[in-house]
Amino acid sequence: MKIGVLTGGGDCPGLNPAIRGVVYRALDYNDEVIGFEEGWKGPLECLTRSLDLKSVDEIINYGGTILFTSRTNPFAVENGAERIIENLKKLGIEALIAIGGDDTLGVASKLYKLGVNVVGVPKTMDNDLSGTDYTFGFDTSVSIAVDALNRLRDTARSHRRIIVLEVMGRHAGWVALFTGVAGGADWVLLPEEKPDFDVMCEHLRKSFKRKGYALVVVSEGTELPVDSDSEVDQFGHKLLQKRGVGEFVASIIKEKMDIPTRSAIIGHIQRGGSPTIFDRMLGVRVGVKAVDMVHSAEFGKMAAIVNNKIDAVPLDQAVGKLRMVSNDWLKLLKVFLK
Ligand code: F6P
Repeated sequence: MKIGVLTGGGDCPGLNPAIRGVVYRALDYNDEVIGFEEGWKGPLECLTRSLDLKSVDEIINYGGTILFTSRTNPFAVENGAERIIENLKKLGIEALIAIGGDDTLGVASKLYKLGVNVVGVPKTMDNDLSGTDYTFGFDTSVSIAVDALNRLRDTARSHRRIIVLEVMGRHAGWVALFTGVAGGADWVLLPEEKPDFDVMCEHLRKSFKRKGYALVVVSEGTELPVDSDSEVDQFGHKLLQKRGVGEFVASIIKEKMDIPTRSAIIGHIQRGGSPTIFDRMLGVRVGVKAVDMVHSAEFGKMAAIVNNKIDAVPLDQAVGKLRMVSNDWLKLLKVFLK
């Protein structure tokens, strides 16, 4: 078969292992693999390159994606879907593997309904996709954020300060929650819970009295009392980093407490670098499964991890609704806010 593969949306560690999984498994079937560059822009504009063993042999530990990526939405472009369908035909692509988050897989699901043989592979550092227990990229990003929090602890302790760390995660608080629990933060603010700054400061006063410093992790999507409009991408998502949530929370702490406070944003640093072993293994496993799904004609589905098994899950399940932090996870977090 001739199979196309693309990576769309924000890059994250684990994409290259997934591409490697696709190409290695395709070799078992004597398939030809064509890589589309820059997400959905690739099939829209026929940006292709052929992928063989040599092109993926050494990428297991590389961050980012060798296929490049973009946040192109073909349904926001005139005749975008029609152009993709026509180009796939022209190139003789019999099946397309789309590796991405809810936006990329949302496009995949719509194209499937228009007759394209699509298989999805979920990825996102936000870990907010439904239909899968984890997405690759998340483990590496949280590891980087925890490392950042450990470093901030040194400065906070030495200067007797409160330090606020802003992390990504878009509309879900998984990155903040895992960073806070695994990094031992004193308070964590998430999009899933309306912040009560008085309760937070009261708690920080207690922590500061006990240890001489305190650490706060705040998710970029946390609700603010006043929210300014910001730019949106082709999928209509706000560019959250421009909201300055970490800085805002630090300013509230400064205003309510007489303790020196600083804020830090790690931004895209948490999306780069070599994938952790967890993300490498998840990446290769779902990449391999995606090719198997092409051969068993399980289109309109994605290769996801469910109860530690890689399964074919309908794309509609993944793109219908974001997977937000649930109450049992919030309960676990609260155990550690003492
Ligand atoms: O979806 C992944 C993510 O890193 C979000 O956590 C963040 O809000 C967004 O992408 C940032 O997007 P960009 O890289 O386009 O600035």
